[in-house]
Amino acid sequence: MTSTTSRATSADLADRARLTIPGGANSNVRLAAPRVFFERGKGAWLWDVDGNDYVDYLLGQGPNFLGHAHDRVVAAVAKASTSGMVFGAQHRLEVEAAERIVAALGWADMVRLGMTGTEAVQAALRLARAVTGRRRFVRFEGHYHGWLDNVLVNPGTDTVASAGQMASYLADSVVVPWNDAAALEAALAEHAEALAAVIMEPIMINSGSTEPADGYLPRVRELCTRYGVVLIFDEVISGFRVALGGAAQRYGVAPDLATYGKAMAGGWPVAALAGRAELMERFGTGEVNHSGTFNGSVMAAAAVVATLDVLTEDPPYERITRHGTALMAGLADLGRRHGVPLRVQGLPMAFHASFGPPDPVTDYRGLRTLDLDRYAAFSHALADHGVWVAGRGIWYVSAAHGEPELTAALERADRALTGHAAG
Ligand SMILES: Cc1ncc(COP(=O)(O)O)c(C=O)c1O
Repeated sequence: MTSTTSRATSADLADRARLTIPGGANSNVRLAAPRVFFERGKGAWLWDVDGNDYVDYLLGQGPNFLGHAHDRVVAAVAKASTSGMVFGAQHRLEVEAAERIVAALGWADMVRLGMTGTEAVQAALRLARAVTGRRRFVRFEGHYHGWLDNVLVNPGTDTVASAGQMASYLADSVVVPWNDAAALEAALAEHAEALAAVIMEPIMINSGSTEPADGYLPRVRELCTRYGVVLIFDEVISGFRVALGGAAQRYGVAPDLATYGKAMAGGWPVAALAGRAELMERFGTGEVNHSGTFNGSVMAAAAVVATLDVLTEDPPYERITRHGTALMAGLADLGRRHGVPLRVQGLPMAFHASFGPPDPVTDYRGLRTLDLDRYAAFSHALADHGVWVAGRGIWYVSAAHGEPELTAALERADRALTGHAAG
């Protein structure tokens, strides 16, 4: 019989995990990560079963925006769940969650809750198709919208990224370089009759944490309105993170629909599709199907309410910006001191680090010059020295990161770079 005590090491657990979990991980995104098993997380820190601590800049791929196990979120979820978890019917907290989301966003009238960003994106595309009666959509090079067949691509080549994925589903989209208004205008002019939607990350966080060029989003908005195409912002990362109202607030541009997840629920698995009433009501009439056993569960709604209350009562955005900015500067400085081409760019709440040309990259094609393998190796060296980050370059900063974490992270990164540069 296998032991279930907490004394098992990461190596023991990795061996056991491989026997019953394919690859020993429940998401393919984690297959390349160091085989560390965590015991607990609190605030900006993680502790593994081997007794090591880590400053966490992965935040569970983004959701722990308030830090791990935020007291108010934990208390709200625990309290709510003692009266039942899912009813297959409505409950008060769902209404409170929806009201808080709509108030926070400012531009949206209605919202539906779901479990994952992947689902929210599919609901948005379905709704856009229903409303327009058209099939195809525009998406952009380097943007990520989840793991389903019609949006998953190999970065750089825009080909299927998985065995078993139906390439024919990718043919539903027209792919355009991002931050290039002329290219979008040309695509709309050529395909408008067939296009239901334009879907984008309004900040290309998944590829370089690249901001939209001045005037780009207003121009996109104008073009979508002119061609009668539904504009979908995929704010699964940027939502509630770059501002309470996400990128739509930061850049003052309202989409027709937007998807959210990650930062909105203090780590709880919740996603949302928000939008203008005229579109969203099609779900309410039953004409467009959006379903899910766990949508708007008691815990999910409680987590959203508690998280948005914290973000509203004590907005962490300035603090996070200060921390992220100092961390970016510190890492860039370390890169110079170690004589390695460590490049840091993007927004301080979710910035991008890589090895490559020293200048910031402003479009997806520029990212192809980066040395991804070298960065992945560096991310492992960081883990060895107690800094937990994504292998593909995004660093997420939470409301729980303060001075002690900044000092610890930079000291540890310094040590990791010493080995890395030597190796
Ligand atoms: C912009 C964006 N959209 C959609 C998704 C998919 O969300 P999920 O992993 O919750 O399915 C992600 C995940 O990282 C994302 O970054």
